[in-house]
Amino acid sequence: MSGIVGYTGGQSAYPVLLSGLKKLEYRGYDSAGMALLCPKELKIAKTMGKISILEKMIGGDGYLQGLAGIGHIRWATHGAPSDINAHPHLDCSQKFAIVHNGIIENYLNLRRWLEERGHRFISETDSEVLAHLIEHFFDGDLFRAVANTVEKVEGSFAMAAIYDGEKEKLVCARRDCPLIIGLGEGENFVASDVPAFLDHTRRAYILENGEIAVVTADAVEIYTSRGEIRTKKVDEITWNAAEAEKEGYPHFMIKEIMEQPQALRRTMQGRLGGPGGGFALPELNLTPEEIGAIEQIYIIACGTSYHAGLVAKYTMERILKIPVEVDLASEFCYREPLLDKNMLFIVISQSGETADTLAALRLARKKGKRVLAITNIVGSSVAREADNVFFTWAGPEIAVASTKAYLTQLSSLYLITYYLAQEKGSLSGAELGEAGNAMLNLPDLVETILARTDEIQKMAAYLAPWESCFYIGRNIDYAVALEGALKLEEISYVHAEAYASGELKHGTLALVTEGIPVVALVTQRAIIEKSLSNIKEIKARGGHVFCFAQEGEATDEFQREVDGLFRIPATLDILMPILSVIPLQLLAYHTAIARGCPVDNPRNLTKSVTVE
Ligand code: G6P
Repeated sequence: MSGIVGYTGGQSAYPVLLSGLKKLEYRGYDSAGMALLCPKELKIAKTMGKISILEKMIGGDGYLQGLAGIGHIRWATHGAPSDINAHPHLDCSQKFAIVHNGIIENYLNLRRWLEERGHRFISETDSEVLAHLIEHFFDGDLFRAVANTVEKVEGSFAMAAIYDGEKEKLVCARRDCPLIIGLGEGENFVASDVPAFLDHTRRAYILENGEIAVVTADAVEIYTSRGEIRTKKVDEITWNAAEAEKEGYPHFMIKEIMEQPQALRRTMQGRLGGPGGGFALPELNLTPEEIGAIEQIYIIACGTSYHAGLVAKYTMERILKIPVEVDLASEFCYREPLLDKNMLFIVISQSGETADTLAALRLARKKGKRVLAITNIVGSSVAREADNVFFTWAGPEIAVASTKAYLTQLSSLYLITYYLAQEKGSLSGAELGEAGNAMLNLPDLVETILARTDEIQKMAAYLAPWESCFYIGRNIDYAVALEGALKLEEISYVHAEAYASGELKHGTLALVTEGIPVVALVTQRAIIEKSLSNIKEIKARGGHVFCFAQEGEATDEFQREVDGLFRIPATLDILMPILSVIPLQLLAYHTAIARGCPVDNPRNLTKSVTVE
């Protein structure tokens, strides 16, 4: 995933674009660049590496005189990260510059076609064809050239183009990648995501697939690809700019971990415990008959969102007594899935832009399924293409490793489960009341866990020098263990394997050697004895066990057996994942800090993967 910014207005464009790019750094960061419409010429600067390198390259008044321009941060897909492959890309005449996010699937054909017409390419990217196509089609009107260009292109794109002959105009287009126009006074902005311009304006147009925007300092005109003008509704962005920044925390990840109580409250607001009591989820758009008919649930997602789905398999089956299948989006698409008529089909995606999840959503719809999406991003592709959307309201999540988005996905899944149970009559009124009260109490319990960082830091100090460790748990604890291990791997680069506790003895126990760290989750009262015997198996082989257990009668016994115990405040067993994941997030964070890792931007990873 890459990031695009654009600006046109009365200010020097360079600092506006630079700060916009920094806000989008989470989208990808192997190279960065900018093109500015300066009075005498089109000035371009681009480099492999971080935005700070670009900042050092761009100096002097020449660049500062440009009042309009475009910028880009790249996460390589076609062509390795390099100065030449960095965006913006120019045409042969060097009069047109483009930035692009997405993948042009027919670029090889287009490149050959353009080369036959005398165009010379200098990069290995798919994106460069856009600049040459615009040059090819240009007849004095940049809009028409862009419209003709995007018509030739197969694949996904969000793009912005400038022309040296029109010093204040940007022309932008999108298909399957996000692009938003920020509306200012005497200035306008273009960006892949809202935080890039939130310092300047909260008013925006969210471009739809196939739309092309002509943006000048004083006007934004939106057209269909056939050139018909469109009237669009202005969206008011409700996040504040500070929410998208670190607010004094050293990293976005810890800021987002600490924001979880508030995020949880937002997810539940208006959906639980309102005036009518109970669970109220009109956004599911399901009639009582449709709910009554649901016989199976199918959940599709990737990464951390998939782990949220795995928790839901246990909780939904326990509460609703119907089978739940959870699948990785990348697998689902290629295994001829059997989709039953009476099935509720759910996709989960924080960003709403993950290519695999989007492909799964499209496949399910093609097979006639009605799709419910759980996502955090309004206006995202998943949100627009699903039949019904349940927003998690986590607020912007910038750190690559997902924390508050995961927690709000979990709580969304609980809300959906209890709502279905209420409508289907799977639980009694008293049981639903107890569950609702327990859920409403969760944000306070999360707060108490977050206040106990020092306990986690001690564990992290032990874990940090190791290159390998294990996470174990049974039942829902296993699903949470998978997420805890992924978190640690993503940001600290410690190899972390999660196992169902009962499965250890079938192989992995051979890897338990003196001192090796093992994180054991024990939150389900019904299986406490079994979990304790698994811990003893590990202790007997010299493993160093950190146990995360629900506070209760047996906790003192655990205390005697293990090397470190974190007491998780008690709630309903079934809700424990919301609490037990918090110390695991903190453990991953503090281990990564102790190892000196770049927590927010782990190597090789990106926040949203828009390629399959
Ligand atoms: C990437 C991110 C993960 C995320 C996954 C799915 O791999 O690094 O944190 O869980 O994509 O993303 P989505 O936006 O679809 O939830």
